This record gives sequence, structure tokens and C-alpha cells, in this order.
Amino acid sequence: MDISLEQGELEEIETELFILGVYEEGLGKTAKKIDEELDNELSRAMNEKEFTGEFGQIKILSTAGKFKARNILIIGLGDRQNSTIATLKKAIGLGVRVARDTIGVKNFATTIHKNTTKDKNTIQEKIQAVTEGILLGAYQFLKYKTKDLDEIKKIETAKLYLKKKTDQAIEAVEKGRIIGEAATFVRDLVNESGSVLTPERFAELAKERTEKYGIKTTIFDKKEIEAKQMNGLLAVNSGSIKEPRFVILEYKGNSNKKIALVGKGITFDSGGLNVKTAAGMETMKSDMAGGATVLGTILSAARLKLPVHLYGVIALTENMPGNNAYKQGDVITTYSGKTVEVLNTDAEGRIVLADALTYAEKELKPNIIVDVATLTGACVVALGSAASGVIGDKDVIKKLKEASKTSGEKIWELPLYEEYKRQVESEIADVRNIGIYPKEAGAITAAAFLKNFVEKTPWAHIDIAGTAYTTAEKELTKKGGTGWGVKLLTTFLEQWE
Ligand code: BES
Ligand code: ZN
Ligand code: ZN
Repeated sequence: MDISLEQGELEEIETELFILGVYEEGLGKTAKKIDEELDNELSRAMNEKEFTGEFGQIKILSTAGKFKARNILIIGLGDRQNSTIATLKKAIGLGVRVARDTIGVKNFATTIHKNTTKDKNTIQEKIQAVTEGILLGAYQFLKYKTKDLDEIKKIETAKLYLKKKTDQAIEAVEKGRIIGEAATFVRDLVNESGSVLTPERFAELAKERTEKYGIKTTIFDKKEIEAKQMNGLLAVNSGSIKEPRFVILEYKGNSNKKIALVGKGITFDSGGLNVKTAAGMETMKSDMAGGATVLGTILSAARLKLPVHLYGVIALTENMPGNNAYKQGDVITTYSGKTVEVLNTDAEGRIVLADALTYAEKELKPNIIVDVATLTGACVVALGSAASGVIGDKDVIKKLKEASKTSGEKIWELPLYEEYKRQVESEIADVRNIGIYPKEAGAITAAAFLKNFVEKTPWAHIDIAGTAYTTAEKELTKKGGTGWGVKLLTTFLEQWE
């Protein structure tokens, strides 16, 4: 998919389809021009409340030769006061989908207006968001389609028109492209089946993808994982016939502060002996989304040449109920030396993360650690798909919240009070892997468990169970992986000093 930046005004734009956003407050300059030429069709629709500018509304206008653009697609942007760059990103994502699926064009053009005092974001932020929105809206996972391939509609080119093509605008498109491509790469990984994207294949792919950007990739195979006594990862792996992998990525940008991102990489979560229901298992190829997000983020940081010294740590295994599977009642001596009483084999993510967090803290000695994981169904109950849960140390969370504001990917903080820490106290080991009251505060209990494996480094945990994968169609996503988090974490790294 080719996105190019062009200079020009509506009259000069030759395209199959021109996409324009309109706020509820009324028509802007370009929309007015369109309205005048097309016999007030748009203002009439607004007067008659057929089109109000409410977010997500669409109106298709045929230009009948009055513009060089053949058709115009108007997208409602909603209330201007509440509009953020996430609004713009979603609107263009929706526009691209309507252009492809309803109107059936391969090419389109759109524009971004220069800023007025009412805007909260810079023009660069808007250009970047629109570029990302185009890539995400146009995303399709077609690898396994064999029938009628010619009939599958695709967008080939998008032209972004500005009144003036500045160096800053070019840079903003480039940034949007890098982040958008990283997010669609994460989607590809999440959408791939667990039988294909095994731990071994995930690790290989990480190496292949990162090499050309100067990222150093180290892979531990099963022997090395055994030699290091990463027994948490090994316990979860024991019911699977596929070997585990432990991946360490390093991008050494210009900075003396080190950040470690840690990802849960369960390539398929059957639940283990505490086997999931059929419905609960349906989407569990996505249980490596945290690991994929870490990989996507390090790729975007390296391509953007961000001044950060960044590590990515990904613990990869399936969680299966094979003959040798770990069991309820087992006590594991984790890589840290701390012991874990296993009371539910489906709470496996926290066990592999325990080893990964210890490795990150002890071996890499970063200034901060952020882990990303599809960790709990409880987080989906609490926050749904609108926001990810975040739990941990105040300073790190503060920075994440700032990045969330800029990036438009929402997070919501859950507390880690002492009471919750008691949930994971075990009678026979150092900690237990589910809460004493397992129906209470599941997302926080999981974080309380993780906290035992981060001794002194400022840390935050992001639970993406509800945001990484969607079963409903939205503006920016079909069913499947969302790529959630790449933009948040890239922005976080950008803003970190
Ligand atoms: N991978 C799941 C969490 C999950 C659920 C992610 C739904 C995405 C959508 C995790 O390993 C899990 O099964 N957690 C259990 C923990 C419980 C046994 C304490 C859960 O949430 O039910
Ligand atoms: Zn599980
Ligand atoms: Zn899981």
C-alpha cells in the first residue's frame, strides 16, 4: 500500500475518490466549496438532519464532472471539542473501509487542514495519525484465502494532500508509516495460527525482522533455558511437544538510560490441564500479543532512531495439557529462586513472565521495566476493549498516561493495595499463582503476583487481554489482532527522558 504526500487544493485533485471529514459544528472551507458546486446537496442533508456530522456517519456525493475528483466521501467527525487524533485516525480508518468495501475504489485522496486555534494537536500529529489510520483501515489478513482472489478488493494508493508540502509533513508521514507498519506486523503475528507461529518460528521471525535495523537478537533454545533454570517457562512448556524459546532484543539508541519491555508469548493457550472451554479457547492463538507488541515496538523505535537504549524480552511457549503437563499442586522454583505453588494451570502467563521479569531486572539492569500481556479475562470484564489495564509504580504509570493522551490508546490504572498482595500468599511456597479468592480482582491479583518478581526497578504492567484482539468489527479493525500498544509504547519511549 502506497501513501504519498501531495501539494494542492481540491480543484486540482484528480482521483477516483476524495475523502473529507466534517464536524457537527458545520462545514469548513473545503466542504463549503464542495457544497456550493454540488447544488447545496450537503448543507441540505445537514438541514434535514439526514447527515449531522455525528461521528462515523457517511455521505457519498457524486461530483458529476464538477471536480476532477469523481466522487466525494464525507465522514462525520462528531463534536469538534471532543475530537482527538484518535478521532481522526478512526475516521480515516472507517473512510478507507467504506472506500474499499462499499464504493469499491483502489485509489483515493484525502486532505488535512491546517490548524486553527481550536485544535489541540499539531498538524504533524494529525498527519501522522491519518497515515496510521490509513494503514490500519486498509489492513487485511489474506494469507489463507485461495478462492476468487481477483475479486477481493484492495486499496493500492492513498494520496494525502496538503496546501504546502513541508519537510515536517514528510517526516510526519514517515513516522506514521513506521508506526502503522509495526502495528500491522503485530496484527499479522496475532492473526497467524498457533500451529504455524510456534515459539521457534516466532523467535526466528524476530531475528529475521530486526537484523536490518541494527537490533541485536539473542535466542535461548530449550537447552539454554534448562541450563539457566528458567523453570517457570519450562513448567508451562512441559505439556507441549513444541520447544520453548526465550528471546532478548536490544536496540542501542543514543541514551544512557535503559528501558526493558517484557512480553508474554504464549503461542497458544489451551489452559493446560485446567483446560479452557471451547469458546474460551477460540481466540487463544492471540495469547502471544504482548510479545508481538514488544517486537513491534522495538522495530518502530529502531526505525525512528529514537534516543533510547531499549531491550525487549519475550518468553515463548504453548500452554498444552500433554502427558507431561504441569499440574495443580506442583511447586516450581522459578529463575529468581522464589517458589510458586500452581493452583491453576491456566494462569500460565504470570509464571512465564516471572522468569522474564527476573531476567530483565537481574541481567539487563534497566532503569525501568514495562511488561505487556494478555493476562486476565478479569481485565476484559473490568474494562472491555476500550482500554487496557495498567498496574504498578506511580512514576512509570504517570509517563504511560501522558503517552496515552498523545497516542490516543487508552489505559486505566487499577490499584495495587496491600490487601491484593495477600491474595497470592501461599501456605507451602513463596507465592501461589491464583488468588485465595479467585473470583476477586483477577487483573490486580495477577499483577500482585508479578510484583514478586520485580525487586527494585520501577515497573508497570499493561494487561491487553481486552484490547489486543477483537471479535467485533470496528472503525480500524476487522475481527482479529488490533496492533494495540505499539503507538502507546513508541510514544512513551519518545517522551521518556
Ligand atoms: N490468556 C488468558 C487470559 C485471556 C482471557 C486473554 C481472555 C484474552 C482473553 C490467561 O492465561 C488466563 O487464562 N487467565 C485466567 C486466570 C485465572 C485462571 C486466574 C483467566 O483470566 O481466567
Ligand atoms: Zn491461561
Ligand atoms: Zn494465557
